[in-house]
Amino acid sequence: MSVPKKDLQRIEKLRDQIRYHNACYYVHDNPEIPDAEYDRMMRELQELEARYPDTITIDSPTQRVGAEPMEGFETVKHELPMLSLNNAFSEEEVLEYDRRIHDRLPGQKQIEYTVEPKLDGLAISLRYEKGVLVRGLTRGDGNEGEDVTSNVRTIESIPLKLLGKDYPDVLEVRGEIIMPKAGFAALNKRQIEKNEKTFANPRNAAAGSLRQLDPKVTRTRPLEIYCYGVGVIKGKDTMSTHHATLEKLQTWGLRVNPETSVVKGVKACLAYYQAMLDKRARLDYEIDGVVYKVNDLADQHTVGQVARAPRWAVAHKFPAEEELTKLLDIDVQVGRTGKLTPVARLEPVYVGGVTVTNATLHNQDEIDRKGVRIGDTVIVRRAGDVIPEVVGPVLSRRPKKTRAYKMPELCPVCDSDAIRQEGEADLRCTGGLYCSAQRKEAIKHFVSRRAMDIDGLGEKLVDQLIDQGLIDTVADIYSLDKDQLAALERMGDKSAANLVEALEKSKATTLARFLFALGIRGVGETTAQTLATHLMSLEALSRADEETLQAVPDIGPVVAQNIIVFFQQPHNQEVIDKLLKAGVHWPAIEAVDESTQSLQGKTFVLTGTLTKMTRNEAKQGLQALGAKVSGSVSAKTDFVVAGDKAGSKLQKAQALGIKIIDEATLESLLE
Ligand code: IVH
Repeated sequence: MSVPKKDLQRIEKLRDQIRYHNACYYVHDNPEIPDAEYDRMMRELQELEARYPDTITIDSPTQRVGAEPMEGFETVKHELPMLSLNNAFSEEEVLEYDRRIHDRLPGQKQIEYTVEPKLDGLAISLRYEKGVLVRGLTRGDGNEGEDVTSNVRTIESIPLKLLGKDYPDVLEVRGEIIMPKAGFAALNKRQIEKNEKTFANPRNAAAGSLRQLDPKVTRTRPLEIYCYGVGVIKGKDTMSTHHATLEKLQTWGLRVNPETSVVKGVKACLAYYQAMLDKRARLDYEIDGVVYKVNDLADQHTVGQVARAPRWAVAHKFPAEEELTKLLDIDVQVGRTGKLTPVARLEPVYVGGVTVTNATLHNQDEIDRKGVRIGDTVIVRRAGDVIPEVVGPVLSRRPKKTRAYKMPELCPVCDSDAIRQEGEADLRCTGGLYCSAQRKEAIKHFVSRRAMDIDGLGEKLVDQLIDQGLIDTVADIYSLDKDQLAALERMGDKSAANLVEALEKSKATTLARFLFALGIRGVGETTAQTLATHLMSLEALSRADEETLQAVPDIGPVVAQNIIVFFQQPHNQEVIDKLLKAGVHWPAIEAVDESTQSLQGKTFVLTGTLTKMTRNEAKQGLQALGAKVSGSVSAKTDFVVAGDKAGSKLQKAQALGIKIIDEATLESLLE
């Protein structure tokens, strides 16, 4: 069937536009049109192609899943081998690496390096001929890889056709296929729901997904690409630095990691390492180090390569986040609300940059689910600032004599019954304030920075005060005198005097802080703030019934019940009275004027770094105007405030078409 010229032109135009918008979205993180419009263009193209099947080409944006499931992958030789990287594990090794570069490039004062995150996924080589994606190969052994073309074609951030006109005749792009952390978590959740096997980490998930025999399965997996170099390049080849190459790749619609940068000298490399280490936990994808590459391509050539790795690049690895160690024993810790937490005592192990000796095991169900036994060799994980946890045992290393663990039936501190309420995973000590562990934790919470903010009353001191019977409840801390305090271990006259002063100062507080400090279950900082604004006095709160409480935004039946029960306890009333008598006070709360609640009902999400205020200040400011501040972007979000270097939340907001405002706009809103 002959295709009318008008339709042919329309088809070509739609394809070009879609490719362009793909690049805006994936490469530049900056979509220009709403998703709905993109979808409309895609649908129109699909309809036209359905009408004129002869016009379909393999580089059409509609052709991401075409292939039928395969029997296996064909092995193909790389025209240019895919190299790997040498590793440096310490600052000293990096300095040594830089010295060797200087030896090979005499006369240069400071070497210019491109610095990049070392992405934790799997390497891929994409071959474009005349701008059209013709093949995707895994790294394999470096010399030959597996042909996963049908699968890479399903990944939206990989262009099927390069943009522009100035691409070389043949271009092999090298990059890393990754699965973002959020996508990984969602995938594992789906796997559990479907009763299928879960993946140990995003890298395994990415590898497993790319090696699916059915591209339709790969299509459903949240894979992405970041390109970090080129292999074969034939025809136009005009770039003189590595960084210029990466920039060029972007103009062709290939995605490059936004954390990539150019620095001068090894000191700056080390600063980049530290900055990325600090940022690691906040990135939406896993990295296991950074890579330094000599930027000048002529210099790269001079420096050369050895067998399997270039001399001009080095990977500076982060400390591992997972390590093996021995589970020596399991102890039980009692928390503020009586929760009994089993804690693994471990043979000390260096993981995630610190030496870990304890790790939480959460509860009995978790111990059973993981199947760990005392005596096991276990995997310990510490990612970022997250508390260390035991991932599971290494069964192949299980010794003959191991012991299963069962949580105790009595609280290990006060011998009260420990019970597990229906529907709850945790055991709780029923001792309440009879239990010294609970009392200690309640006091530590009361004095903490975000509660009553009493400087100089640290954990060790609280333990001493309780153990020596000097205090029983939070109310007693205000009757401590200087001499009593000075007599304690590791205290002197000076610190005792300072503490008395801090106690005095803490008496001037706010209702919200006070409520939070009381430690009612389920009443965190935000809830305390909401309760204070809506009920306006302690009196009103302590008399509030279920209905009144549930009318307060975000208070559900469980928390409402907790609040009521808390105030019904004569003991708690006594403590509160004593605190008030000791002089704890706060300014009266003025009635909320609905007209000043200009952001009533609006939900905000803050992301990126704000320069003129802290996140907490922004949050409080917004809440004061009646807004809700949430931690994650969803369809219910009204505004996303994007500070500096905003990342995945911003992307998600853009993808959802949510209104995005900058810090200046936020400031004017708050004024
Ligand atoms: S460059 C010629 N850059 O690390 C050098 N590799 O250990 C070839 N990787 O197989 C690699 N991020 O899968 C390079 N920014 C980055 C990287 C990176 C991750 C992986 C890649 C490679 C492995 C080598």
